[in-house]
Amino acid sequence: MARKRVAIFISGSGSNMETLIRSMAEPDHPAEPCLVLSNRSEAAGLEKARALGVATSVIDHKPFAGDRKAFEAAITEALARVSPDIICLAGFMRILTGDFVAGWEGRMLNTHPSLLPKYKGLHTHRRALEASDMVHGCSVHLVTPELDGGPVLGQARIAVKPDDTEETLAARVLAMEHKLYPAVLRSFAEGKTAKLVLT
Ligand code: GAR
Repeated sequence: MARKRVAIFISGSGSNMETLIRSMAEPDHPAEPCLVLSNRSEAAGLEKARALGVATSVIDHKPFAGDRKAFEAAITEALARVSPDIICLAGFMRILTGDFVAGWEGRMLNTHPSLLPKYKGLHTHRRALEASDMVHGCSVHLVTPELDGGPVLGQARIAVKPDDTEETLAARVLAMEHKLYPAVLRSFAEGKTAKLVLT
Protein backbone atom coordinates (compact mmCIF):
# COMPACT_ATOMS: atom_id res chain seq x y z
CA MET A 1 0.00 0.00 0.00
CA ALA A 2 1.21 3.54 -0.76
CA ARG A 3 2.73 5.30 2.20
CA LYS A 4 0.69 8.12 3.68
CA ARG A 5 2.17 11.54 3.01
CA VAL A 6 2.61 13.71 6.10
CA ALA A 7 2.92 17.50 6.30
CA ILE A 8 4.22 18.77 9.63
CA PHE A 9 3.41 22.30 10.85
CA ILE A 10 5.83 23.99 13.25
CA SER A 11 6.48 27.41 14.77
CA GLY A 12 9.66 26.91 16.79
CA SER A 13 12.35 24.42 17.69
CA GLY A 14 10.68 21.53 15.91
CA SER A 15 11.94 18.77 18.19
CA ASN A 16 8.68 16.83 17.79
CA MET A 17 8.88 17.32 14.04
CA GLU A 18 12.39 15.89 14.08
CA THR A 19 11.34 12.77 15.98
CA LEU A 20 8.38 12.30 13.62
CA ILE A 21 10.64 12.56 10.55
CA ARG A 22 13.24 10.21 12.05
CA SER A 23 10.53 7.68 12.93
CA MET A 24 9.23 7.67 9.36
CA ALA A 25 12.67 6.59 8.16
CA GLU A 26 11.94 3.08 9.49
CA PRO A 27 11.75 0.91 6.37
CA ASP A 28 8.35 -0.57 7.15
CA HIS A 29 6.78 2.73 8.22
CA PRO A 30 3.34 3.38 6.73
CA ALA A 31 3.99 7.13 6.29
CA GLU A 32 6.57 9.51 4.85
CA PRO A 33 7.19 13.23 5.36
CA CYS A 34 6.33 15.44 2.38
CA LEU A 35 6.63 18.96 3.85
CA VAL A 36 7.55 20.94 6.94
CA LEU A 37 5.61 24.19 7.03
CA SER A 38 6.37 27.03 9.44
CA ASN A 39 4.60 30.32 10.08
CA ARG A 40 7.93 31.76 11.30
CA SER A 41 10.92 32.08 8.97
CA GLU A 42 13.27 32.03 11.97
CA ALA A 43 11.91 28.75 13.39
CA ALA A 44 14.93 26.60 14.25
CA GLY A 45 13.04 23.53 13.10
CA LEU A 46 13.29 24.62 9.45
CA GLU A 47 17.05 24.03 9.40
CA LYS A 48 16.57 20.63 11.06
CA ALA A 49 14.00 19.66 8.42
CA ARG A 50 16.31 20.72 5.59
CA ALA A 51 19.17 18.74 7.15
CA LEU A 52 16.88 15.71 7.17
CA GLY A 53 16.15 16.23 3.48
CA VAL A 54 12.52 17.27 3.86
CA ALA A 55 11.03 20.11 1.81
CA THR A 56 10.14 23.24 3.78
CA SER A 57 7.75 26.10 3.27
CA VAL A 58 7.37 29.33 5.24
CA ILE A 59 3.99 31.02 5.33
CA ASP A 60 4.50 34.00 7.61
CA HIS A 61 1.22 34.95 9.26
CA LYS A 62 2.25 38.56 9.90
CA PRO A 63 1.72 40.06 6.40
CA PHE A 64 -1.85 38.71 6.53
CA ALA A 65 -2.49 41.06 9.47
CA GLY A 66 -5.12 38.95 11.15
CA ASP A 67 -6.82 37.78 7.96
CA ARG A 68 -6.83 34.11 8.93
CA LYS A 69 -8.71 33.03 5.81
CA ALA A 70 -6.06 34.53 3.54
CA PHE A 71 -3.28 33.02 5.67
CA GLU A 72 -4.93 29.62 5.41
CA ALA A 73 -5.48 30.02 1.67
CA ALA A 74 -1.71 30.41 1.34
CA ILE A 75 -1.20 27.29 3.47
CA THR A 76 -3.68 25.38 1.31
CA GLU A 77 -1.78 26.45 -1.80
CA ALA A 78 1.51 25.18 -0.33
CA LEU A 79 -0.16 21.91 0.66
CA ALA A 80 -1.66 21.46 -2.82
CA ARG A 81 1.85 21.18 -4.22
CA VAL A 82 2.70 18.16 -2.03
CA SER A 83 -0.70 16.44 -1.61
CA PRO A 84 -0.47 15.32 2.01
CA ASP A 85 -2.79 12.69 3.46
CA ILE A 86 -2.15 13.70 7.07
CA ILE A 87 -1.19 16.96 8.81
CA CYS A 88 0.74 16.77 12.08
CA LEU A 89 0.73 19.96 14.12
CA ALA A 90 3.95 19.95 16.15
CA GLY A 91 4.31 23.09 18.20
CA PHE A 92 2.37 25.11 15.61
CA MET A 93 1.30 28.14 17.61
CA ARG A 94 -1.43 29.59 15.37
CA ILE A 95 -5.10 28.84 15.85
CA LEU A 96 -6.65 27.49 12.66
CA THR A 97 -10.19 28.44 11.66
CA GLY A 98 -13.08 26.03 11.89
CA ASP A 99 -13.31 25.96 8.11
CA PHE A 100 -9.70 24.93 7.66
CA VAL A 101 -9.95 22.33 10.42
CA ALA A 102 -13.20 20.96 8.97
CA GLY A 103 -11.44 20.39 5.66
CA TRP A 104 -8.89 18.20 7.43
CA GLU A 105 -11.06 16.65 10.12
CA GLY A 106 -10.02 13.08 10.83
CA ARG A 107 -6.68 13.70 9.08
CA MET A 108 -5.02 16.29 11.33
CA LEU A 109 -3.19 15.43 14.57
CA ASN A 110 -1.76 17.65 17.31
CA THR A 111 0.50 17.11 20.30
CA HIS A 112 -0.41 19.00 23.44
CA PRO A 113 1.63 19.22 26.66
CA SER A 114 -1.04 18.16 29.16
CA LEU A 115 -3.29 15.25 29.96
CA LEU A 116 -6.31 16.46 28.04
CA PRO A 117 -9.04 17.37 28.78
CA LYS A 118 -7.02 19.07 31.52
CA TYR A 119 -5.25 22.31 30.65
CA LYS A 120 -6.28 23.17 27.13
CA GLY A 121 -4.45 26.20 25.76
CA LEU A 122 -1.19 27.67 27.08
CA HIS A 123 0.99 27.47 30.23
CA THR A 124 0.06 23.85 30.89
CA HIS A 125 3.08 23.08 33.10
CA ARG A 126 2.52 26.14 35.27
CA ARG A 127 -1.13 25.23 35.69
CA ALA A 128 -0.30 21.63 36.63
CA LEU A 129 2.14 22.90 39.29
CA GLU A 130 -0.33 25.49 40.60
CA ALA A 131 -2.94 22.74 40.96
CA SER A 132 -0.40 20.55 42.85
CA ASP A 133 -1.01 17.76 40.36
CA MET A 134 0.99 14.63 41.10
CA VAL A 135 0.65 13.36 37.55
CA HIS A 136 1.13 15.35 34.36
CA GLY A 137 1.87 14.45 30.77
CA CYS A 138 1.02 14.94 27.14
CA SER A 139 -1.67 14.00 24.66
CA VAL A 140 -1.89 13.46 20.93
CA HIS A 141 -5.35 14.14 19.60
CA LEU A 142 -7.31 14.61 16.43
CA VAL A 143 -7.87 18.28 15.70
CA THR A 144 -11.44 19.53 15.73
CA PRO A 145 -12.71 23.12 15.74
CA GLU A 146 -12.71 23.13 19.56
CA LEU A 147 -9.20 24.17 20.69
CA ASP A 148 -7.36 21.10 22.06
CA GLY A 149 -10.75 19.39 22.27
CA GLY A 150 -10.64 16.60 19.66
CA PRO A 151 -10.63 12.85 20.37
CA VAL A 152 -7.49 11.76 22.23
CA LEU A 153 -5.47 9.11 20.36
CA GLY A 154 -2.72 8.67 22.90
CA GLN A 155 -1.40 9.90 26.24
CA ALA A 156 1.82 9.62 28.21
CA ARG A 157 2.01 10.27 31.94
CA ILE A 158 4.85 11.43 34.14
CA ALA A 159 5.07 11.84 37.91
CA VAL A 160 5.44 15.43 39.13
CA LYS A 161 8.36 15.71 41.57
CA PRO A 162 8.21 17.96 44.65
CA ASP A 163 11.04 20.15 43.36
CA ASP A 164 9.78 20.42 39.78
CA THR A 165 9.72 23.82 38.10
CA GLU A 166 7.92 24.76 34.89
CA GLU A 167 11.19 24.16 33.05
CA THR A 168 12.01 20.74 34.50
CA LEU A 169 8.44 19.59 33.97
CA ALA A 170 8.38 20.90 30.40
CA ALA A 171 11.60 19.02 29.60
CA ARG A 172 10.29 15.69 30.92
CA VAL A 173 6.93 16.12 29.16
CA LEU A 174 8.71 16.99 25.89
CA ALA A 175 10.78 13.81 26.18
CA MET A 176 7.52 11.84 26.49
CA GLU A 177 6.03 13.65 23.49
CA HIS A 178 9.02 12.42 21.50
CA LYS A 179 7.97 8.84 22.29
CA LEU A 180 4.23 9.30 22.09
CA TYR A 181 3.80 11.29 18.88
CA PRO A 182 5.75 8.90 16.60
CA ALA A 183 3.93 5.92 18.15
CA VAL A 184 0.53 7.52 17.58
CA LEU A 185 1.37 8.64 14.05
CA ARG A 186 2.45 5.14 13.16
CA SER A 187 -0.68 3.48 14.47
CA PHE A 188 -2.90 6.23 12.98
CA ALA A 189 -1.28 5.78 9.56
CA GLU A 190 -1.89 2.03 9.90
CA GLY A 191 -5.58 2.79 10.41
CA LYS A 192 -5.66 1.66 14.04
CA THR A 193 -8.01 3.47 16.40
CA ALA A 194 -7.16 2.06 19.85
CA LYS A 195 -5.90 4.71 22.27
CA LEU A 196 -2.19 4.42 23.12
CA VAL A 197 -1.11 4.90 26.71
CA LEU A 198 2.57 5.27 27.59
CA THR A 199 3.92 5.52 31.13
C1 GAR B 1 5.56 20.89 22.52
O1 GAR B 1 5.68 20.68 23.91
C2 GAR B 1 4.11 20.93 22.10
O2 GAR B 1 3.28 20.06 22.82
C3 GAR B 1 3.75 22.34 22.43
O3 GAR B 1 4.86 23.09 22.00
C4 GAR B 1 6.04 22.30 22.13
C5 GAR B 1 6.76 22.32 20.81
O4 GAR B 1 8.05 21.83 20.91
N1 GAR B 1 2.55 22.72 21.75
C6 GAR B 1 1.64 23.51 22.27
O5 GAR B 1 1.73 24.03 23.36
C7 GAR B 1 0.44 23.75 21.37
N2 GAR B 1 -0.56 24.47 22.06
P1 GAR B 1 8.88 21.48 19.61
O6 GAR B 1 8.81 22.69 18.67
O7 GAR B 1 10.29 21.28 20.11
O8 GAR B 1 8.30 20.26 19.00
